[in-house]
Amino acid sequence: MDYFLINGGSRLKGTLSVNGSKNAALPIIAAAILTEGETILRGVPDLEDVKHLIHLMEQLGVRVHRDETGALHLKVQDEMNCSAEYDLVRKMRASVCVMGPLLAKRRQAQVSLPGGCNIGDRPIDLHLQGFKSLGATVDLVSGDIHVRAKRLKGSEVFLGGPFGSTVLGTANVMMSATLAEGTTVIEMAACEPEIVDLANYLNACGAQVVGQGTPRITIHGVKELHGCDYTVIPDRIEAGTFMIASAITNGDVTLKNCRLDHLLAVVDRLRAVGVTVERSGEDVQVASTRRLEPITVTTQPFPGFPTDLQAQMMALLCLADGNSIITEKIFPDRFVHVAELNRMGAQLRKEGHVVIVEGVRRLVGAPVMASDLRASAALVLAGLIAKGQTKVARVYHIDRGYYHIEERLNAVGADIRRLQE
Ligand code: EPU
Repeated sequence: MDYFLINGGSRLKGTLSVNGSKNAALPIIAAAILTEGETILRGVPDLEDVKHLIHLMEQLGVRVHRDETGALHLKVQDEMNCSAEYDLVRKMRASVCVMGPLLAKRRQAQVSLPGGCNIGDRPIDLHLQGFKSLGATVDLVSGDIHVRAKRLKGSEVFLGGPFGSTVLGTANVMMSATLAEGTTVIEMAACEPEIVDLANYLNACGAQVVGQGTPRITIHGVKELHGCDYTVIPDRIEAGTFMIASAITNGDVTLKNCRLDHLLAVVDRLRAVGVTVERSGEDVQVASTRRLEPITVTTQPFPGFPTDLQAQMMALLCLADGNSIITEKIFPDRFVHVAELNRMGAQLRKEGHVVIVEGVRRLVGAPVMASDLRASAALVLAGLIAKGQTKVARVYHIDRGYYHIEERLNAVGADIRRLQE
């Protein structure tokens, strides 16, 4: 198993390019099930989660290959198989996003019900409620969800839950409604840029989706979708992680392929901390040369501060000059990094879904364990600034969502080695 050995203390300086978005790419890859003809997807990062989904797509009869330019080609060849088994869904929860396309195109889907994961309980009741509203029947058989419909009929679907809207739930219902008879209106739809990207992809394939990016998405069903050539948006979470990497090392990093309009809440909080974030032509420059101010951060659905950057922001605030408060409103248990950061000398106190961060003068290197993708990113960031050496075990978690993060951070001055246990 790989681990990282990080020598802390280097100041990051230079240019980093942000890859295509994992969380935009995953549902778009699944949406290819809906289409006739070939989809060419550009900018899809070569990550473990993407590889898992490609494997599942192949099991579902979709031919997938990457060409020499890195573009992914997808074409449905066989529509017989409609099931995603536990082994794959267990490895990657986002596999549930094949459910909507299978239901719409093949009239049924059998997908293992995902269990909880390290960021907490992750029900899919809202996805299923959406399918039912479109006329599907839903049964739970031996841990598998079976959804079926002779035909799907457009309807009004409300997708609000106790923690707000659902991103993959909105994706699933939107995808299934593209081929339904009549019009579907999703109320309290997720407004995340990844949902807008999926809608734009579907429209490029001939779908009629309007309102993406707002809480009301309207989908006029069409008879069929064709293939298209599409480029996924840059990964806002990777960009935010690199911004915080620059800030935590008192660095000066320029980001290429960075959509600042997807990161307004993050930029707002970084500026409140005292970090400079500025456009520089097409690029974004992130620099920090001064002490860090303590702040409050509350995670919220887009356009609020993303839960996927909460752990990384916590690493930064460990070094602020005073007490910060972080409130997690999307996944109230998403705090596996708290105990690990405390091992590095942080002073964090968790009270329910709130963490009080008492700023310390420095973090110290220690052996720590990654147990979730974004938590691991936070530990790497903490390692960059910690005094001495930090060993981050189980980096396969970070490989799920960041392509060769160590090589990219090393290119701007970090000192991270990937070694094997
Ligand atoms: N929820 C329900 N019922 C549902 C679905 C969700 O109660 O049927 C709750 C969840 O338990 C959570 C909240 O609603 O409290 C939001 O969950 P959501 O469904 O939006 O999460 P998701 O779609 O499963 C995606 C990202 C996550 C990201 C969340 C929130 C992908 C593949 N995953 O998950 O990304 O944290 O949205 O923005 O797009 C990551 O990349 O590290 C990651 C975990």
